[in-house]
Amino acid sequence: MRQPLVAGNWKMNGSLESITRLLDGIKAGMADVKRAEVAVCAPAIYLPAVQQQLQGSSVGWGAQDVSAEPSGAYTGEIATSMLGEFGCRYVIVGHSERRAYHAESDELVARKFAAARAAGLVPILCVGETLAEREQGITESVVARQLDAVIDLEGAAALANGVVAYEPVWAIGTGETATPEQAQEVHAFIRQRIAGHDAAVAEGLRILYGGSMKPGNAQELIAKPDIDGGLIGGASLDAADFLGICTAAN
Ligand code: 13P
Repeated sequence: MRQPLVAGNWKMNGSLESITRLLDGIKAGMADVKRAEVAVCAPAIYLPAVQQQLQGSSVGWGAQDVSAEPSGAYTGEIATSMLGEFGCRYVIVGHSERRAYHAESDELVARKFAAARAAGLVPILCVGETLAEREQGITESVVARQLDAVIDLEGAAALANGVVAYEPVWAIGTGETATPEQAQEVHAFIRQRIAGHDAAVAEGLRILYGGSMKPGNAQELIAKPDIDGGLIGGASLDAADFLGICTAAN
């Protein structure tokens, strides 16, 4: 049985004051979260504060991106070892916003996935199609290409130490959610594709849904057989909404 994971992706939001309030609220509600593992992915500069506030709680934390390089002359970048120093368990790689606005290629994302794993972090690999790609009927080939970059670099066994998040780009921040059936179809495709390489890894892999997940739609999404939790943007900035999604997995 896969334990659901609900991870917040704060993106470039918050202040020291607002994240303190948010984390207080989340910690206060964790007693009602019966089944899901819970984590927040914070802007890197807030990780020391997040670590201080979450240490000893049942809420994990992580970053939203990381360098594929171990160290060196890469101005502005943050290394996997640095995330480790601040107690990160997770790191998001290949979010569609980074693919779109920072021109991250499938190959670079795969190298980030490998670097995170090598450092003992759990990479959350984001995959998903744009609206144009869905309308062209190429959703599966886009998601397959994004997955295969990781499998080609490291083999499917590498996914045993990772998480995949299916985030249809057209559903991110738009209020338009994939229907549970649409999401389940792609999640099942992802699991089948990995099963083609390694059935045990596919069976154990947590595949999260991301894209306008809210307390009101989380339960029917997470109830689907291949949806193992969520990667939450907007609704992760409000403690009650985020907890509403975490408890939907109960
Ligand atoms: P929203 O929940 O705001 O649609 O964002 C989803 C997302 O991109 C999480 O990584």
